[in-house]
Amino acid sequence: MLKRVKTLRFLRNEVVLITGGSSGIGKALALEAARRGAIVVVVARNKARLHAVAQRCLILSGRPAFAYQLDVTDPDTIDQVLSRIQHEVGGIDVLINSAGLGEFTAVARQKFNSMAEMTHINLLALMYISRCVAKQMMDQGYGAIINLASLAGKIPTPNSAVYSATKAGVIQFDNVLRMEVADYGVQVLTVNPGPISTAFWRADRSGSYRAHLPKWMFIQPNELARRIWDNVGYKTREINVPAYVACLGWLYQVIPGLGDWAIKKFFDFQQDKKDL
Ligand SMILES: NC(=O)c1ccc[n+]([C@@H]2O[C@H](COP(=O)([O-])OP(=O)(O)OC[C@H]3O[C@@H](n4cnc5c(N)ncnc54)[C@H](OP(=O)(O)O)[C@@H]3O)[C@@H](O)[C@H]2O)c1
Repeated sequence: MLKRVKTLRFLRNEVVLITGGSSGIGKALALEAARRGAIVVVVARNKARLHAVAQRCLILSGRPAFAYQLDVTDPDTIDQVLSRIQHEVGGIDVLINSAGLGEFTAVARQKFNSMAEMTHINLLALMYISRCVAKQMMDQGYGAIINLASLAGKIPTPNSAVYSATKAGVIQFDNVLRMEVADYGVQVLTVNPGPISTAFWRADRSGSYRAHLPKWMFIQPNELARRIWDNVGYKTREINVPAYVACLGWLYQVIPGLGDWAIKKFFDFQQDKKDL
């Protein structure tokens, strides 16, 4: 069983399904998987962007590549698309849940719809898709589920309460799922990135959250994608990048009071710089 999971290290001819494959981290993961010879299936809402990614994957891999339009907030459509993939492409060997949304504002100003949308896309849909695909992987006796959480799920920052809560939910969901599927040869890998340069930050319309993060903190999505694929088919349970932020997350667990003070000071300092 373990031997089969190990074959995912090479990705050649493995079927990789990526939600949020039309943009950012999902797109970078799709292109890198194609470079490594995988059969890539991307899903998201934007048809034109999906087809462009699938086209590039086909050229890079020399293998078929597929695009399916899917709004992950609709469970019936999730069922339909997964069943089409099963019939038209075959069993899924690697699932990546990268579809996500971050809207950053103080809790007191956050609207219900924004809370619901983030929870639905970032957490509920991820749990449901993981559940559907985990069943299929347990039957086939191997597979890997990679879920995009965030360091925000470990380190609190002002104006990110709802987003951070959804990501903390993903981390704990994965911790339990990992135990449940381990005996069936399925790897569950949780990815907790710090800031990555993608269109994700467009949802931060006022730019007020992003403005608190220095530019040098941002990592390129391709760099993260390579790091993720290098850990598939191994016993890696989590990827936390960059390392210095991950260390801060660990410190926060040990001394949360000091953590609250330092994080607030850092954000206040960045705000003062912005106001000057
Ligand atoms: N960028 C960062 O700094 C960062 C840091 C930590 C964690 N993350 C996490 O990494 C993941 C990917 O983020 P990213 O930076 O790649 O953002 P991005 O470039 O904005 O991509 C988000 C993807 O999610 C898809 N999506 C959004 N709503 C959807 C829906 N209802 N149904 C289906 N697909 C939907 C979008 O496609 P369509 O619009 O075509 O549907 C897009 O492909 C997210 O879960 C995010 O929380 C990002």
